[in-house]
Amino acid sequence: MNNSICSSQSNVKNLPKETVAKNSQQFYEDVLEGLSQYPKKLPSKYFYNAAGDRLFQQIMHSADYYLTRCELDIFTTRLPEMTKLLIKEGTPFDLIELGPGDCYKSIHLMKALTKQQATFNYLPIDISGAVLDLINTTLPALLPGMPIIPLHGEYFRMLSKANKHSANRKVVLCLGSNIGNMSMMESHAFCQDLRRHLDPGDLVIMGFDLVKNPNMIRMAYNDRDGITSQFNLNLLKRINHELGGNFNLDDFEHYCSYEPETGACKSFLVCLEDRTVRIRDTTISFKKNEYIWMEISQKFTQEQVDDLALKNGFKPVSNLMDSKQWFVDACWVVL
Ligand SMILES: C[S@@+](CC[C@H](N)C(=O)[O-])C[C@H]1O[C@@H](n2cnc3c(N)ncnc32)[C@H](O)[C@@H]1O
Repeated sequence: MNNSICSSQSNVKNLPKETVAKNSQQFYEDVLEGLSQYPKKLPSKYFYNAAGDRLFQQIMHSADYYLTRCELDIFTTRLPEMTKLLIKEGTPFDLIELGPGDCYKSIHLMKALTKQQATFNYLPIDISGAVLDLINTTLPALLPGMPIIPLHGEYFRMLSKANKHSANRKVVLCLGSNIGNMSMMESHAFCQDLRRHLDPGDLVIMGFDLVKNPNMIRMAYNDRDGITSQFNLNLLKRINHELGGNFNLDDFEHYCSYEPETGACKSFLVCLEDRTVRIRDTTISFKKNEYIWMEISQKFTQEQVDDLALKNGFKPVSNLMDSKQWFVDACWVVL
């Protein structure tokens, strides 16, 4: 085991002071860069602080957010196919999850693998220290003895670290349509980068939300309880708290659009009046009705999913769908 990686006993909250300062400076620079653009933008990866993680978990269980229920259906009814694919000839493997959140779906896979006495390590990679702490405290009780190696940081920087952990073959999970939080061009670049980090024969299971009734999609990101609105506004709160900003949350309103022609569902925060906001020593002006683009949640056709695999060095081996055929967990082998 590589000692530089935290073991399941370590607390990911205890980051070195220099890392915390570096992360905070990066957050500041990314926020200023985004808000200096036209139209203004904020990177959605910063949604996930402890409050953002909690709000996302509420979204997952909300009546309008069908994605979690669909993927859970796959991770309960299609487990025999999945475990057969992963266990292969029985050699040990590293199960690496990119952006696991609270492992709500992957836990079912891990339990099934453990039941079948598969030998594997679990390496969750997440930018949110809070979710890794949650994983670190809850998983050992649910799956005693399963080695957990949490990796706190960006996907590919941490995947390089994960690769040094062992010579085992790799199985990478990227669930919840995390890949949808990128433009189509960025998702191709993401798959190319993923391919570069893996070896022939390694496996990937990637969750994609499929195109469907446009009203259904828009509702999922504009839920009747207003949780998605709170989730978006929480990033302004985070900027106030961590970067000394002075956003007045009442000046901003959540808006969501879905374009069936492109499959792009987008979330915005619209400024309701002319306003200026200070972040540390920088002043940013907003015109009435000017918006900040917060997040894309891209929807895919099955052809686009296959195309992402075939154009970037993977071979599709199986497409596992839920009973409604709204969501697919695509299983790819690295060529
Ligand atoms: C939409 S949530 C999905 C969680 C989980 N995959 C699921 O299906 O429930 C996205 C997760 O990815 C993490 N994340 C987002 N961008 C990331 C990045 N660039 N690097 C590492 N983790 C990231 C977030 O902190 C969050 O836990």
